[in-house]
Formats: sequence, C-alpha cells, structure tokens
Amino acid sequence: MTAARSLWHEGAMTTPHKIVILTGAGISAESGIDTFRDGGGLWEQHRVEDVATPEAFARDPELVQRFYDMRRAAVQTKLPNPAHVALVRLEREWPVRVPGGDVTLVTQNVDDLHERGGSLRVIHMHGEHLSAWCTACDARSRWDGPLIHRPACPACGVPALRPDIVWFGEIPYRMDEIHEALSEADLFVSIGTSGAVYPAAGFVRLARELGLATLELNLERSQGSGWFHETRLGAASEIVPAWVDGLLDA
Ligand code: OAD
Repeated sequence: MTAARSLWHEGAMTTPHKIVILTGAGISAESGIDTFRDGGGLWEQHRVEDVATPEAFARDPELVQRFYDMRRAAVQTKLPNPAHVALVRLEREWPVRVPGGDVTLVTQNVDDLHERGGSLRVIHMHGEHLSAWCTACDARSRWDGPLIHRPACPACGVPALRPDIVWFGEIPYRMDEIHEALSEADLFVSIGTSGAVYPAAGFVRLARELGLATLELNLERSQGSGWFHETRLGAASEIVPAWVDGLLDA
C-alpha cells in the first residue's frame, strides 16, 4: 500500500465536496453493451478503431453507418444497471448531505443509460448514439433510427447526417467544462474505463497535479492505475453502489 493510499484509509484526506466522476464502457457492460477492448474489440473482423475515424467514414460510409446503426439500435434494448442507479442517488443526495456538495458526471459512453437511470446532468464527451450531426448545416438532432439510407437533416433537409460520435482524431466535447469541474473538485473517481484513450485517460494525472484525491473502480487495473490513490476491483454493479452507500451513509 502506498503512503497516499494509507492516508485515504486513515481518513486523513478531508471529506470531499465536489466530485468529478468519469465513466467508461465497463459501467454499461452488465447492461449487456459490449465494451471496446474486452474480447478482442473486433466487429465483423474490423478493429473498432478502423470504423471510428473520419477517414473510415470518407472511405466507406455505408460500413460506418451500418456499425453505428447496429449499436444505436442495440443500446435502446438495454437497461440501466445498479451502477448507473447508484450514481443517480449520489447526484441527488450528495448536495443535500454535504454543504457545497456537487457531482459532475462525465462519460465516454455514447449510450443513454445514465440518463435513463435518472441522471440529470451528464457530459457526453464522446457524443451520443441518439444524436445525429448534420455535416451540411452543423445542426444536431435527436435521432433513434438508422442513418444508412441517408435521411434528410430535420434542420436543413440535406441528406448529410452522420453519427454524433467523436471519432479518433476528433476533439472531444465540452473539454472546457470538464477542466473547470476538475479544477474545482477535491475527488476524482474513474469507473469502468481501460484508460487507453486520451484525453480522458489523462484526467487522473491532471487530477493529481491539481491535488485531488483519486479513486478507481474497475474490473481490473486500468492502464493509468498507478496514478490513483486507491483502486477497488470488481463488477461495477457491485462496487459502485457499495462506494456510493459508503460515502452517503458515512
Ligand atoms: P474499454 O473497452 O477500453 O474498457 C472497458 C473497461 O471496463 C476495462 O478496463 C474493463 O476491465 C472494464 N470492465 C469490463 N466489465 C466491467 C464491469 N462489469 N464492471 C467494471 N468494469 C468493467 O472502454 P473505455 O475505456 O470506455 O471511444 O473506452 C474508451 C473509449 O474508447 C470509448 O469511449 C470509445 C472507444 O474507442 C469512442 O467511441 C470515441
């Protein structure tokens, strides 16, 4: 156990007020949504990275639309699990429990399980399955159907919709808000992410530089595990509710 870790356990770290939570595919795994890197990360023999780039879309738009149409349809058949629900409880109860308490939920996930679980404020830094982006007029429209047949943009009528997903090589959304939340927080918690994709993978290091306490909840150690003061390993549906209960009932 590192010195920092024992500090956490001895309660030497002050009670956090503002918490920033980062979630990844692992929090939705028990809802039946495949993670990206477990099981080889292949889709019909394509590496996920090969369908999730602007270059892939330019090369073979039908392949990319088909991939996202399939995933968009699939997530709508899935349900939030106890880990999503526990974070709703934290969002609701933390500001009541702790004066000045605040929870910022940032997700790399493009599913809507946090919202369907009841979370009110979610930063989707990698975009959303249920949104389409018009490359002609830049409008974003709520979208739950397929895009492969090139439907017209509801805003401008041009058939130029693409998934509103941040692909490799594109800039994640709302980074200013995330940095501001981190700069005001005292606890950073990472849940169900492999720590393989930047800039999200770098949040823990930034959090450490800013002096935040850092906690990782994951099935296995992430690539940046060494940066965390504490790591708790297990299935999200068990360890996330346990962590939230421990915090709220302390
Ligand atoms: P990954 O698939 O890279 O990692 C998922 C993590 O969740 C792994 O560390 C698993 O060990 C863990 N995990 C799996 N099942 C779990 C469970 N039941 N409970 C807790 N943890 C579990 O997914 P991300 O880190 O989210 O980007 O991937 C980051 C980004 O890479 C994604 O947002 C996506 C992808 O390319 C875009 O689509 C832009």
